[in-house]
Amino acid sequence: MPTTPSAGPSRALSFSGAAALYAAARPGYPPEVFVALEEAAGRTLDTLRAVDVGAGTGIATRELVRRGAHVVAVEPGEGMAAELRRSLPEVPVVRGDGNRLPLADDSAGLVTYAQSWHWTDPARSWPEAARVLRPGGVLALWWNVADHRAPWVAEQNARIRRHLGADHGVHGTPAPGTASRAVGLPEKGTVSRRLPWARRVSVATHLDNLAGHSAFLVRGGEHAERDRRFFAEEGDRLRELFPDGAVEERYVVDLTTTTV
Ligand SMILES: C[S@@+](CC[C@H](N)C(=O)[O-])C[C@H]1O[C@@H](n2cnc3c(N)ncnc32)[C@H](O)[C@@H]1O
Repeated sequence: MPTTPSAGPSRALSFSGAAALYAAARPGYPPEVFVALEEAAGRTLDTLRAVDVGAGTGIATRELVRRGAHVVAVEPGEGMAAELRRSLPEVPVVRGDGNRLPLADDSAGLVTYAQSWHWTDPARSWPEAARVLRPGGVLALWWNVADHRAPWVAEQNARIRRHLGADHGVHGTPAPGTASRAVGLPEKGTVSRRLPWARRVSVATHLDNLAGHSAFLVRGGEHAERDRRFFAEEGDRLRELFPDGAVEERYVVDLTTTTV
């Protein structure tokens, strides 16, 4: 059963207090994302210097490294950066921020933001990415959006919204087909794709994945008992829906690339 950590310093940095939970339960990204990056760059990843911004615990960083990219990770959160250093000791990790990248001009062929662009101010992060990219380089932003075409996903999201009393659930943008969070980019050179995929995980991992979203992480200890009951009921429902105990989480990756 997930436990809800007490409120962190801010929503953007709330993940740092729950880095191990995040690393264990968050979904990765399908291979099609990395194929699309190579298509956009016109080069294979093993020829590219990449900067993974808002790298977190390194979920996207690991995939870039696996495909041979030379990656520098940029991450503002202390806990996330520590988890990344622990799991990928060969990757340089710079504590920094997408609004002010601690990197030289024209120093990368690829800048990636996996589920982190929305924490930046695009009026600052776009010029920063363009400055760090060499001519012809690619900025890539993507998010795993839960696929609300699966009825149980939409119903769970409605329950989460009621529970949190928030405008949004914890599934990212409300549904595929609604506005992307890839905002602030020039129209010229920008291409968007939607890549559906799925993973099967235990009920416990699925609940930990939900609990590791910032909407839960920022809640104070006074909500802990109510949250505990919410996750217990959600677990019961899921075990009825998936009697073999394997939850099929369905996602659409919302991927946008811009060539400078
Ligand atoms: C949802 S996590 C994504 C982590 C990782 N990229 C992944 O794919 O799992 C968002 C990350 O953005 C980081 N972040 C918050 N504010 C940021 C900013 N202004 N610039 C860059 N990263 C930021 C957080 O610390 C967190 O690690």
